Amino acid sequence: MSELGVRTLDWVDGAILMVDQTQLPASVEMLRITTVPDLVSAIQRLSVRGAPAIGVAGAFGVVLAAQTEGVGTEAFDAAVESIRLTRPTAVNLAKMVERVVAVSAGGTDAILAEAFAVRNEELVASVKMGDAGADLVAEITGKPDSLRALTICNTGGLASVERGTALAVIQTLHERGCLEEAIALETRPLLQGARLTAWELKRMGAPFRLIVDSAGPHLISQGLADVILTGADRIAVNGDTANKIGTYSLALAARHSGVPFVVVAPESTIDMGTAVGGDIEIENRGNDEVVCFGGTTTAPEGTRTINPAFDVTPSELITAIVTDTRVVRLDRGEMLDTVRR
Ligand code: MRU
Repeated sequence: MSELGVRTLDWVDGAILMVDQTQLPASVEMLRITTVPDLVSAIQRLSVRGAPAIGVAGAFGVVLAAQTEGVGTEAFDAAVESIRLTRPTAVNLAKMVERVVAVSAGGTDAILAEAFAVRNEELVASVKMGDAGADLVAEITGKPDSLRALTICNTGGLASVERGTALAVIQTLHERGCLEEAIALETRPLLQGARLTAWELKRMGAPFRLIVDSAGPHLISQGLADVILTGADRIAVNGDTANKIGTYSLALAARHSGVPFVVVAPESTIDMGTAVGGDIEIENRGNDEVVCFGGTTTAPEGTRTINPAFDVTPSELITAIVTDTRVVRLDRGEMLDTVRR
């Protein structure tokens, strides 16, 4: 269980129970989701977000589809498809929906059991990534006792049921007494860093400071970070990694300053069906998030925008990818498809 006393997302009494992340940090509110349209809308507005978390949400969403439409009906197929297509970049959503649908011949009980398996695997994966990532950064930075880690977006328990990916590494470093400071980017336009990562770091009692996104490369050049730790939404076979918009500029700055750049993600985020990063569909979230801030319009009426939610960091800029089963040292020429699991 998280410090909330409940999981970020779980299946409770025939429904999905989730923390409504749009309300954080002002209040902790739970949503009880019983229908597929309500789940789709929760994923769209980012009440639940983060690649592993939406994968788990999608898995339980198939149970909702079975309960409301009946397994094997046309309405079931349509409901499942609506979940699968809700957000295109994070591969976990489509992958976990497909995984759970694959057992649907066994009926609702089999679907529910598979969805629980998805959830449980993500829980175990978070702990393993935290440990492996903390070991790795201690080794590659040569700073085992006082690490300063810079991170973007939110990759904690909120993004992944419990503990998370990159933030699980930071949490593990903190628990080991090895974290000097975490630096969190606010993560415009939806402020996952300011609203969610800062909230999680504060709750875990970790030392941290918050910065505006554009300060990231400058602070890396000033030597304020020993390592950059990010999550991933989809990792292509060649190691190219899609993650929150702004990640690529951190990787460029890190390379320029000789700072290691480490991606932390479960195996479920690796897409062996996508050869290179250029093949990854990038979600475009439209005008409103760019021309408004906190409910106030900040640009002249009619302003057109470009609002990609993610970017792709080329594998050449990535030092290592830490998963729940392996550490792939891209800087040593290792590849995702040649390293044994
Ligand atoms: O748009 P979001 O908030 O879903 O984006 C999330 C990210 O980019 C995370 O870094 C990624 O999903 C990894 S979460 C463990």
